[in-house]
Amino acid sequence: MRTGLEGKTAVVTGASRGIGKAIAFALAAEGANVVLSSRKQESLDEVAKELREAHPGAGVLPKAAHVGDAESAAACMDAAVAEFGGIDILVNNAGTNPYYGPMADIEPAAAAKTVEVNQFAVVQWTKLALEASMAERGGAIVNIASIGGMTTEHGIGYYNATKAAVIHLTRQFAMELAPKVRVNCIAPGLVKTHLARALWEPNEAEISKRMPLGRLGEPEDIASAAVFLAGDTSSWMTGQTLVVDGGSTIRASIA
Ligand SMILES: NC(=O)c1ccc[n+]([C@@H]2O[C@H](COP(=O)([O-])OP(=O)(O)OC[C@H]3O[C@@H](n4cnc5c(N)ncnc54)[C@H](OP(=O)(O)O)[C@@H]3O)[C@@H](O)[C@H]2O)c1
Repeated sequence: MRTGLEGKTAVVTGASRGIGKAIAFALAAEGANVVLSSRKQESLDEVAKELREAHPGAGVLPKAAHVGDAESAAACMDAAVAEFGGIDILVNNAGTNPYYGPMADIEPAAAAKTVEVNQFAVVQWTKLALEASMAERGGAIVNIASIGGMTTEHGIGYYNATKAAVIHLTRQFAMELAPKVRVNCIAPGLVKTHLARALWEPNEAEISKRMPLGRLGEPEDIASAAVFLAGDTSSWMTGQTLVVDGGSTIRASIA
């Protein structure tokens, strides 16, 4: 089945590495133009170079923006419209976790940053995408949450609370924006990226043994789900959260 992504334009936040980078490559492989965004222009320029080498002729625009900064977010969207004429797909992927520990001990500044980047940015970038062209010509939005937003976990409880919010923002936006714009979400399990390094690097073999599918996730595992949700392949889906976690959440409670 065809994804219908050829010639579409996608904005991907947090595209300089990890899951966002893999999503950008997967969308470009389907023929989409991609706008790569994250805070560091130099890293984005590197990724753009790699992407053009992998997919000669791909439309690529690297444009730095802090997802929580309204002005630089708007400038990114403006640049996308100027380059490609509009935006068809938004992937709200940028995420952060500045605090590890019991939830009651989080400092207000760390809590505010977690909400700004993981949660409110989803609202801000959705609004900008609507204004840029989606309200008029429609589109698809893919939010990246986490399986942590569906359960409890030691150490990253506040981060997970923002991911639970992303799951609900997905449902709420899907209801408000239907039928023109579809909004769906992915809840990844543990994926081997920089963000989650402290969780998996010290004991990858041990964790893998406990995963029903026997391994941790790779960014590409999430990218293929993002292509499905961004494309015509999911044209009768909105407001849903797709769990992609190697089976972590269906593990037997007693082995
Ligand atoms: N890895 C996992 O196990 C896992 C599991 C569940 C969910 N997730 C979610 O997946 C998403 C991607 O994470 P990842 O694992 O791929 O992490 P990663 O490799 O650390 O990538 C994070 C990306 O977000 C960007 N970023 C961070 N803060 C930003 C900000 N304020 N403004 C703009 N960009 C910002 C980073 O670039 P700069 O630093 O250059 O800005 C980078 O491109 C996140 O939403 C994360 O919560 C990850």
